[in-house]
Amino acid sequence: MDWQLLRNLRGRDFLSDQDYSREELVALLDLAAAIKDIWRKGVPTPLLRGKHLALLFEEPSTRTRMSFEVGMSDLGGTTLYLKPGEIHLGARETVGDTARVMSRYVHGVMARLYKHTTLVELAEGATVPVINGLTDLYHPVQTMSDAFTIRETMGRLEGVKLAFLGDATNVCNALVVTCSKLGINLSVANPPGYTVRPDIRELARQNSRESGARIEFLTDPAEAVRDADFVYTDLWWWVGQEDEAEARKKAMAPYQVNAALMKKAKPTARFMHCLPAARGLEATDEVMDGPQSIIFDQAENRMHFQKALLVALLGVDVDPAEVPAPVRDLVTNLRG
Ligand code: CP
Repeated sequence: MDWQLLRNLRGRDFLSDQDYSREELVALLDLAAAIKDIWRKGVPTPLLRGKHLALLFEEPSTRTRMSFEVGMSDLGGTTLYLKPGEIHLGARETVGDTARVMSRYVHGVMARLYKHTTLVELAEGATVPVINGLTDLYHPVQTMSDAFTIRETMGRLEGVKLAFLGDATNVCNALVVTCSKLGINLSVANPPGYTVRPDIRELARQNSRESGARIEFLTDPAEAVRDADFVYTDLWWWVGQEDEAEARKKAMAPYQVNAALMKKAKPTARFMHCLPAARGLEATDEVMDGPQSIIFDQAENRMHFQKALLVALLGVDVDPAEVPAPVRDLVTNLRG
């Protein structure tokens, strides 16, 4: 574990993993594994005792809200759930002013916002770490948690092949960044008209030069899943795109993950989905509930990875003498 790298993350925002080095991202995965191991043994980990995290949601959530709330509680801290209509955010005061005020009350802000530009504005105004809980551009806590699941499943990241099928969603964009940073080979198959933006493809090209990841952008789903260790999909449309539903269904039907498509991947391939899912559209029940599916492991690992992220970004100030013995080394190393 690279403790110095982890200590240096204190105070940073997490708007995209593009802002982090490969070594920093691997250190976060290592910390998540250590925290999960202690959690499995039932030992309390009050690393963030006395700290408060605001959870700001412009859109609904099951996993993000629950995993951050339970994770922060496990770490000995508290959360405040805030939603539009209950606070001023860009209405009656600027986003920057809201951020400055929030920073006087809490030690960190996790925000799920419609627009990534609003998140950037929030982070610019805040003096405490801001974490991206999903925007129109990226969902990095999801895809870093997925990298954690992939590493748990395979024991490594390098040389692993992930295939993503369907719309170029925020999860797809974030997977392009996460995989190209961490050295995971990624084949994306999007239908024509729903492809990954050129600037995100360019990031993948630059990141891959360092990590050695092979990232390809295709239209043929069968070609994408060939030799894949993981097959991943996401919703075909999101809140606000309902009027496009029929056109999207037609364009994305060939990208449905069903038993026939899974047979074209490696026999050992696992099925992944960030959830929520529209069962019977992007993936069949047979695949989602079948033996190759690891979708609920992904959901659980959101909590474990995010706990590591919170510990690193918010920083550990508790006295090592005041935590259970199995956590003492962790606290000592994180305090430095
Ligand atoms: N995957 C994910 O972010 O789920 P929620 O929308 O339920 O938070």
